[in-house]
Amino acid sequence: MQQGMHPDLVRVVFTKEEIAVVVERIGRQISADYAGQKLLLVAVLKGAFVFMADLLRYIEGSVEVDFMAVSSYGAEAKSSGVVRIIKDLENSIEDRHVLIVEDILDSGLTLTYLLKNLRSRNPLSVEIATLLYKEGKQDVAIDCKYIGLACPNEFVVGYGLDYAERYRELPYIAVLKPSVYSA
Ligand code: PRP
Repeated sequence: MQQGMHPDLVRVVFTKEEIAVVVERIGRQISADYAGQKLLLVAVLKGAFVFMADLLRYIEGSVEVDFMAVSSYGAEAKSSGVVRIIKDLENSIEDRHVLIVEDILDSGLTLTYLLKNLRSRNPLSVEIATLLYKEGKQDVAIDCKYIGLACPNEFVVGYGLDYAERYRELPYIAVLKPSVYSA
């Protein structure tokens, strides 16, 4: 076991320091790309709240935040791409530049739905910033303007990502022991 690592974990994939470097890089890119424009960051709860909080502090310029929460209708519905909005945005995004902030792009079903939904509200633009993406897992190609780190195709937790609502508080991203979720 790596020193200081939670006992339910196999290994750390990205340390706190590695994550910080990537978040800063994305924040600086966003600041440059949206210079002189008003930007609305939309985080997808719950997982993205940690990334959103850190990313926000590297963005210079006019930026506002809002949050959405979505839920799949269960395992079968998830594979059909149907998601339900649990919490919607507070304000209209008409004529706004919107950047969706996600912690992880896995099958891509959540983002496919969100992109379609938000684009139907007449924004000026909708783009995606995802901290992690799982290579080759997406059924449909999704164009992400900002991508942080390639994530191994394993069950990862920490930095906002959970298993059964646990481990979100870990400052690093790590692989969970299979015995924890198969127990
Ligand atoms: C996770 C993650 C993304 C979604 C990605 O959320 O935060 O929103 O899954 O998966 P996909 O690409 O296969 O759609 P989750 O449903 O675990 O909810 P949480 O963020 O509240 O933990």
